[in-house]
Formats: sequence, C-alpha cells, structure tokens
Amino acid sequence: MKAVIPAAGLGTRFLPATKSQPKEMLPLVDKPSIQFVVEECVDSGIDDIIIITGRGKRVIEDHFDHSVELEAVLDKKGKEDLKEMVADIASMVDIHFIRQKEALGLGHAILRAEKHVGDEPFAVLLGDDIVFSKKPCTKQLFELYYKHKASIIAVEKVPEHMISSYGIIDGTEVGPGLHRITHLVEKPKPEDSPSNLGIIGRYLLTPGIFEELKKTKKGRGGEIQLTDGLMRLSKKEEMYGWEFEGVRHDLGNKFEYLKASLEYGLLHEEVGPRLREYFSNFNADEVEAKYR
Ligand code: G1P
Repeated sequence: MKAVIPAAGLGTRFLPATKSQPKEMLPLVDKPSIQFVVEECVDSGIDDIIIITGRGKRVIEDHFDHSVELEAVLDKKGKEDLKEMVADIASMVDIHFIRQKEALGLGHAILRAEKHVGDEPFAVLLGDDIVFSKKPCTKQLFELYYKHKASIIAVEKVPEHMISSYGIIDGTEVGPGLHRITHLVEKPKPEDSPSNLGIIGRYLLTPGIFEELKKTKKGRGGEIQLTDGLMRLSKKEEMYGWEFEGVRHDLGNKFEYLKASLEYGLLHEEVGPRLREYFSNFNADEVEAKYR
C-alpha cells in the first residue's frame, strides 16, 4: 500500500521559523511533525511513501536517510539507544521524493505522484495535520475502503468561524459517523456552507482521482484544489466522509501547534511529569509580570 505526503508548501504562517527550514521539520518536543505522519503510515501498514517536496526541502530527505557520522559518534559514545533510534528513522519504510516544481496547489501536488502510485487505491496524508488515536486514522480509512470499495475522507465537525479554513463535505449519514458524500466545496463562507463537516488531512482515494485532477481547473486561491478534483470524482464514484476516532491538531495554525506541543509534551516520558507539575502551579499573570 502506498501513501502520498505533500510537503511542498512554503510555511508562510510560521515565518521567520520557516525561512530556511521546512515547516514539516518543526518539532513537537523532539520529533519533527513529518515523522509523526510517516509513523502513522507505517502503523497503518503502508510500506511505500511518496513525499512531494519543493525548493528548500532537502533536509526532509536527510532526516529519513542514514546519518553515518552521527551514528558512528553515538556508537563511540556508547549511546546505543540513541543510535538505534536514529538508525530506525532511516529504515522504517521506503520513501521516495518527487519535486513539485511549481506551487500550483494541493491537487497539482497529488498529481505528481500518479506514475508512482499507478492504478491502485492510495492514502494521502497532509503534514499539517497530526492525529493521535488508538487506531491510526489512515488505518481506519483503509478498513472502510475494504468494506465499501470507495474513496473515504476523514472529516470532523468544525466550529462555524473555522468553516472557511476547510474543505467541507455534504452528504447523508448512512451509519454512525459515516456520510455518503453528495457535495464538496473548498473553504466556503460559513453562510454558504452545506454543513460543518470539515475535511482533515487524511484521505483514502481511488486512482480515478488522477484523471479528475487533470481536468480540474484552478479554483480557490488560483490553485488546483484537491477538493475540486474530489467533487468531480464524487459524481462518478461513491465517496464517503468518516468522522474519524482520535484527536487531531492542525499544525499549520500557531495556537494549535502550541497546544499540540503541550499535549504531546504532557505525554512525553522524559518531560511529561515535570511539565504537568509546572502547569499545576502555573499562574499566567505571575509569568507575564516577570517579563514586563
Ligand atoms: C487543505 C485542503 C482543505 C482541508 C485542509 C485540512 O487546506 O485544501 O480542503 O480541509 O487542508 O487541513 P490547507 O490547510 O492546506 O489550506
């Protein structure tokens, strides 16, 4: 099974941190966000990943490659655990890199993977979205794919003021949390939105999406939108939205990024207990007074 991870965006929302490093390398505590996404693929049974990169993204390739010098130094220092952890990152799965040479949108990025994916269903995971769940979100989608033999998109109910930040689906609920999609729209105004079911960055798509993306014209923001391609596909094939089980963070949003860092930090073996203690006595006014 294959997965496509688009990682070509400029990360302008995180400038200046992303001026010379990809946003996908911003960590939660000590792990780059893209590693969470790759691990979700591995935990979902995917053995072949295509990362769509762009200019300035070479360090992502380095991250998933062996660092011979680093491994040798850790070995010499007797830091076996660290050496193993670093080596495992390079060997956990086959990763291929394809460059998107023009920033023409998410739909255009996915289309770059067509030759590699071929004629089989595949997963798409957007690096800005991290999902913590008992069963990996992509695995949930695969299971539904096998049951319905149709494209499945992970969705969640979003508050009204956030509707214009998401692709939104409309449909009929055919089972608990499962919606047969009749319509999709990219980032509508809340008053024009057909529902509050927002698309999060997890998709299980049939290869039919490639033909539709080729025919998709530039949409919102002058870009080729995946949502518009999906709208076309939904007219030809059955398609479902799934209210996935788990907690999702949008790391493309500064507040959500901080929240995810704290929540993951609280669960982190090394820093979790101290962070919990720190917050149990936390007084925002006192902290602010120290800095003023
Ligand atoms: C993209 C998609 C949008 C989806 C969102 C999820 O938008 O175009 O349909 O709801 O990801 O994070 P972006 O956040 O890249 O603007």
